[in-house]
Amino acid sequence: MKNIGGGAVLDLAGIEKGFGGGVVLDGIDLTVPQGQFVALVGPSGAGKSTLLRLVNGMHLPDRGTVRTLGADPAGCSRRELRALRARVGFVFQQFGLVGRLSALENVLMGALATLRWPRYGVMTYPRALRERAVEQLDRVGLADKRFQRCDTLSGGQQQRVAVARTLLQRPELILADEPVASLDPAASVLVLDTLKRISAEDGISVVCSLHQIDLALSTADRVVALRSGRIVLDEPAATLPEERLRAVYEETSARHD
Ligand SMILES: Nc1ncnc2c1ncn2[C@@H]1O[C@H](COP(=O)(O)OP(=O)(O)OP(=O)(O)O)[C@@H](O)[C@H]1O
Ligand SMILES: [Mg+2]
Repeated sequence: MKNIGGGAVLDLAGIEKGFGGGVVLDGIDLTVPQGQFVALVGPSGAGKSTLLRLVNGMHLPDRGTVRTLGADPAGCSRRELRALRARVGFVFQQFGLVGRLSALENVLMGALATLRWPRYGVMTYPRALRERAVEQLDRVGLADKRFQRCDTLSGGQQQRVAVARTLLQRPELILADEPVASLDPAASVLVLDTLKRISAEDGISVVCSLHQIDLALSTADRVVALRSGRIVLDEPAATLPEERLRAVYEETSARHD
């Protein structure tokens, strides 16, 4: 189910989204080609999480169109939406692991959507899948921790288990909503470097919201900054001066029309 042609994996056009009273996204146009690592930055409340949720159909736009891996979530049936979500990995700030289960079993849970019935224990999963799960743990540098309970791993290790779990579903696009917000700087670098390396090796696009300007610049191919629901900056990370990005956070009330 690769995105044939290597074109855009994600295309948002004229997106507007509000909740009850306020406008949250106000005219978003964004196209992400295959394999690109995009850092999504901007102050709290700018609309980053809302944008990510529109991509996999957790929210639908009030206006405009979303095309994710060639599909419009608004036009998908429940079944089609489930199929689309299986192709889109989601990594959260809170990891979303089951603490009392081993790293390996948590990774295996990434395949549950493709299995017919619930599983209890590592050995109840098909052998080929177990092997693939260990491979994914190896890619995030945690094969030796596979039998350790997740609640005894460090935060950075837990987030890498969560990345491995996402990889088991063979995603064509990974959305990461502040995946390093609760980690210390060293663990943050390790998690982002892991995501970046996998994105480059597998040609998987990543859209990753972040608050750390230095990490956005050092990790991403492209930085997109949101402010008050609008894109106020969209540049290659390599040529973007840090001050310009910092200004997005510092201009407290300016609107960019
Ligand atoms: N389900 C919802 N119902 C009502 N309002 C919402 C909902 N989801 C988001 N909002 C509002 O939309 C705005 C943008 O929220 P969003 O979570 O997208 O911001 P963000 O950029 O991710 O912020 P942060 O950096 O704090 O995570 C906020 O004002 C928020 O209160
Ligand atoms: Mg958010």
